[in-house]
Amino acid sequence: MAAALLQAPGVQISGCRVQPQQQSGGSSSSSSSTTSVAGQSSRSVVLSSAFFGRRKFVARSLWIDKASKKEFCVLRTKKQQQGVVVQCSVADSSTIQDSVATTQLIPGAGKTPEGVECYGVFCVTYDLKEIDEQKPKTWKKMVRVVVSGAAGMISNHLLFKLASGEVFGHDQPLALNLLGSERSRDALEGVAMELEDSLFPLLREVNIGIEPTEVFRDADWALLIGAKPRGPGMERADLLDLNGQIFAEQGKALNAVASPDVKVLVVGNPCNTNALIALKNAPRIPSKNFHALTRLDENRAKCQLALKAGLFYDNVSNVTIWGNHSTTQVPDFLNAKINGKPATEVITDRKWLEEEFTPRVQTRGGALIKKWGRSSAASTAVSIADAIKSLVNPTPKGDWFSSGVFTTGNPYGIADDLIFSLPCRSKGDGDYEIVPDLQIDDYLYERIKKSEKELLAEKKCVAHLIGDENGYCDLPEDTTLPGEQ
Ligand code: LMR
Repeated sequence: MAAALLQAPGVQISGCRVQPQQQSGGSSSSSSSTTSVAGQSSRSVVLSSAFFGRRKFVARSLWIDKASKKEFCVLRTKKQQQGVVVQCSVADSSTIQDSVATTQLIPGAGKTPEGVECYGVFCVTYDLKEIDEQKPKTWKKMVRVVVSGAAGMISNHLLFKLASGEVFGHDQPLALNLLGSERSRDALEGVAMELEDSLFPLLREVNIGIEPTEVFRDADWALLIGAKPRGPGMERADLLDLNGQIFAEQGKALNAVASPDVKVLVVGNPCNTNALIALKNAPRIPSKNFHALTRLDENRAKCQLALKAGLFYDNVSNVTIWGNHSTTQVPDFLNAKINGKPATEVITDRKWLEEEFTPRVQTRGGALIKKWGRSSAASTAVSIADAIKSLVNPTPKGDWFSSGVFTTGNPYGIADDLIFSLPCRSKGDGDYEIVPDLQIDDYLYERIKKSEKELLAEKKCVAHLIGDENGYCDLPEDTTLPGEQ
C-alpha cells in the first residue's frame, strides 16, 4: 500500500470505521474530528464533516490485502481526482467491531477524466504503482474509446471485442468510457462488472457516467450507438428531431472535451443525419473525422453476392454502399469484385442484381427484426469493429470499404455538406481518402441521386439543430430505415 499522503479525521461509514493517525492538508481545523457518516449501503455514503465539507462519496471497490487480511475500499467524490483509500468492510455495521485503519490517499488512485467514475477493479488498477512498468514494452500509448448506449445490446457485443484487442490490436491498451442514461445506470454497472470479470490484459480503465461532457473527455474514439427507437405513432420527422437533439448535445460535448482529433462513428439511427448533426455541433473537430456506419450494409451485400456466386464471402471485395443507411441505400454490384473479377461477370443475371440483390440488402434490417423481434445487435457490433479496423489498418491494395463520410469536396458530384456513404481507403492511421473514378452507370446514378435527395430532405428537417435557417420537414414517402417497412 502506498504511503499516506493525507490522513483524515475519524470516519465512520456503515460497516467501516477509519481512524486518523494525524491530520495534514484539508481546509478545516483538526478539531473537526467527529466526522459523521450517513449512508445506507457500502456503495454510496455521505460523509459530513468540517474537514471534508459535505460531499458525496462513493465506495468504488473492495479488495482484500492478502498479507494483512484486511479489506479496503476506495472512496471518491464525483469531482475528486484521487481516491481516498480506507480500510473497511462490506459487512453490516452491526457485525463490525471497531475496525480501525489509516485513511490514505493513494497517488493517482482513480485518476480519471473529471466527473467520470472509474469502476471497480479499474480504480484499483491505479493502486498498482508505475503502471507503465507492468506493461509489455511493445504496447502502444493507451487509446480512450467512448461508447454511448453502453448498456444496450450492440454494446454488449462490441465492448468485449474492443477489450479483447481484436479491434485496435493486441498491442493497444485501452480505456473504455461508457455513457449510459440515469435509467440504465444499473445495467451500465452490470456491463462494467462483466468487463472486470473478463480479465482482459489490455483493458486498463473502465469509467462510467451519464454526462457526455464528462464521459467524452479526452476521447480518441467516440462510438455513438445510443439513440431512441421510433415509437408507435411517431412520425419519422419526430424521430429525426428526438435523436437529433441527442446528437447535437453529444456533438457539443465532443467539441468541448474530446481529443481534437477524435474519430466519431455514429451508429444510432438515422445515423447519416445524426452524424451530420454531431459534426455541425463540433466545429473544433475536423469534419472528416465523422462517420456514419454503413459497414453493416456492405457486409450484408458481400454475403448476398457470395451466396449467389456459390462462394465463401471472403472472395467478394470492392463493395460500395452509396448514400443513406436507409432503404434508399445503393449496394453497388457494378464495381464489386468476386475473386478479383467484376461481380457482373460472375453473376450475369442483371435482373437478379437489380431486383433481388438490391432490395434484399436495403431491407435486410427489417427482415432481421421480423425474425428476432428487435434490431440486429451482434452483426452491427461486428460491423462497427470492421469499420474501425478499416481505419486503423491499411486497406488491402486495390480494395476499399464503405463509410458514411462528409461530402464537401467529394469526387462524385454528391451535394456538399452531407454525410453520405462512399468508397474509402485508409493508410491505417485513422484517416481515409475517398476512392475516385468508380464507374457509375445510369442505373446507379439514378439511385444515388434518390438517396442524396432523401438526405437533403432529412437535413432540412434538422435545420434547427445544425444552425441552418429556413428549415422545413417534407420527407419523401419512402424515407425509411432498413428496419422500417
Ligand atoms: C439495421 O440496419 O439492422 C438497423 O439499422 C435497422 C433499423 O432500422 O434500426
